[in-house]
Amino acid sequence: MVLESVARIVKVQLPAYLKRLPVPESITGFARLTVSEWLRLLPFLGVLALLGYLAVHPFLQKKKQQKDSLINLKIQKENLKVVNEINIEDLCLAKAAYCRCWRSKTFPACDGSHNKHNELTGDNVGPLILKKKEV
Ligand code: FES
Repeated sequence: MVLESVARIVKVQLPAYLKRLPVPESITGFARLTVSEWLRLLPFLGVLALLGYLAVHPFLQKKKQQKDSLINLKIQKENLKVVNEINIEDLCLAKAAYCRCWRSKTFPACDGSHNKHNELTGDNVGPLILKKKEV
């Protein structure tokens, strides 16, 4: 019974519906359609748009997820890899804090931007603190 109904829709009703659609022969033909022709065409165009969206959507979501997984959003993006080198002998302060959240405006030094990042995202990142041993 159900299959009979599906078969009737696919073999009889759908082709008849498609045959009655006022699909123009060319792009410029769309401009010559009347309002009632547009109203008949809109549900069909909506279904096509929905199918197109559903076909493309998984790829768009994957691209967005890739962007979300970036750690470094803006520091030295022109370089393939950001590497900072600091000589231990040059550490003149008793304590130095280096950024590990990639949000510091004074990178590679920590400027406290991790606090705002943690507040906004619920993350728990913080700096690497190098301390000189007190002798
Ligand atoms: Fe990045 Fe502090 S600003 S760890």
